[in-house]
Amino acid sequence: MAHDFARHRAAEAAGIRAEPHASPTAVTADALVVFLAEGGVGAGAVAEVDRACGGLLARLAAAGDLSGKRYECVPLLGVQGVAAGQVLVAGLGKREAVDGGVLHRAAAAAARVLAARPRSKVVFAGESGWSTGEAEQAVAGAAAGMVGQDLYRAESRRTPFGTTVWTGTAPAAVASGSAIAAGVNLARRLVNMSPDDLYPQSFADEAAAVAGRSGLEIEIWDEERLHREHCRAILAVGRGSSRPPRLVILRHRGSRRAADALPALALVGKGVTFDSGGLSLKPSESMLTMKMDMSGGAAVLAAIATIAALELPIDVVAAIGLVENMTGPAAYKLGDVITARSGTTIEVHNTDAEGRIVLADVLDVVRGMKPGRIVDVATLTGACMVALGHDVAGLFTNDQPWCDRVAAAARAVGEPVWQLPMYPEYDEHIASDVADIKNVGDGRWGGAITAAKFLERFVGGIPWTHVDIAGPAFAEKPKPWTDGGATGSMVRPLVELARGL
Ligand code: BES
Ligand code: MN
Ligand code: ZN
Repeated sequence: MAHDFARHRAAEAAGIRAEPHASPTAVTADALVVFLAEGGVGAGAVAEVDRACGGLLARLAAAGDLSGKRYECVPLLGVQGVAAGQVLVAGLGKREAVDGGVLHRAAAAAARVLAARPRSKVVFAGESGWSTGEAEQAVAGAAAGMVGQDLYRAESRRTPFGTTVWTGTAPAAVASGSAIAAGVNLARRLVNMSPDDLYPQSFADEAAAVAGRSGLEIEIWDEERLHREHCRAILAVGRGSSRPPRLVILRHRGSRRAADALPALALVGKGVTFDSGGLSLKPSESMLTMKMDMSGGAAVLAAIATIAALELPIDVVAAIGLVENMTGPAAYKLGDVITARSGTTIEVHNTDAEGRIVLADVLDVVRGMKPGRIVDVATLTGACMVALGHDVAGLFTNDQPWCDRVAAAARAVGEPVWQLPMYPEYDEHIASDVADIKNVGDGRWGGAITAAKFLERFVGGIPWTHVDIAGPAFAEKPKPWTDGGATGSMVRPLVELARGL
């Protein structure tokens, strides 16, 4: 492999430490980051810095040069009374609206600005008023913001800091925030990898490396095993590619229950390492970013690795269906009828609706493990982006209380989600003339829902929530808090969810 991925892999475990009692103004560093809400300096670390420099911040705020607006980052050089080389003031917006998500993005925005040049040490001034969860999200944000999408650039645009120090922040929150950021950055790296480097087997190799260092159990099903397990739906989608499909199953045993205890939670991920559309070929513009079609799989891998790193006392299984959807001579065809592992027959109307076919078998494998609950994460439909835009994930469920918990976990960490309905009437849209179901709805209307309705057929009545991240998984343009590319969408919500169980 031509590229030095080891360097990028190492950055996922960046040197971050807590110095809870250190004074932010006294720590020598390249930069000190302080957080400022709208309406002036107020109390806390910002006020401490303001006192040290003789009221400079308050004067700038009064003059309107420091607004405290959300994600505004103002660098002040050579500030008297502060040991750090510069003070970067990061805006939080309205004080009442500050939450874990805002802190995550504000810290990420500050880190992103500073990481434009190499920095050996950066200090972030946490506030004692933050909850543990808020502090953790801020720590995670800083560690994600300093990493860009530089996998294939000779000259990186972002350089992770040598050392990050958090003052005024509990060591436990710094430790868990760093672990969460490692997960987010792992998912981002995998999604950002070229599809020629990340294909089913190499994704499985990455998963095995992650399992090795996280203490997760792992099984990798190759084609032969997939045949034995009757995963004909996964195999059908994979047939058009020279890179054969894989199914990765990871297990975290965090409860102290017996070794044969059923998993409380199953995480399922769509891992289409490249989606050309198959014979229903995508136009070039739509195909360009389709390396990101394994984002759900990456989120699920990163989440279970983080759950293990945090030693959460819960039994979790993660299953990722890995295929490349291509047009090779053996490619599956329109009109094909596939008998999925569950026995349900699927008539193929469009080979570009491949994710649901792959997930049919992955969900059936997971169903057989009798988990208490299932969440699947998938870049499933363009229709979900038509409905909700780029930044909001769609939620679909057969069990409202379970969906409410997924939504609450996402909101707690600041990832927007919105539920769409699952009325039984939509089932008619996927009725087939020749098989049990077809793999698209009638026309484009309600396409995100008909896709979810298809998945519902394979969960066997277990409480299940489907998260369509076609929009949020990948940012075509940069935002104040992140360079463009993979976002690590749903890693933090899944970790938060597992914590609450
Ligand atoms: N991977 C795509 C969905 C997608 C589109 C993800 C854009 C991210 C950005 C999925 O496999 C797909 O192609 N879905 C089709 C379904 C249709 C053929 C019923 C779609 O959304 O157009
Ligand atoms: Mn597709
Ligand atoms: Zn796809």
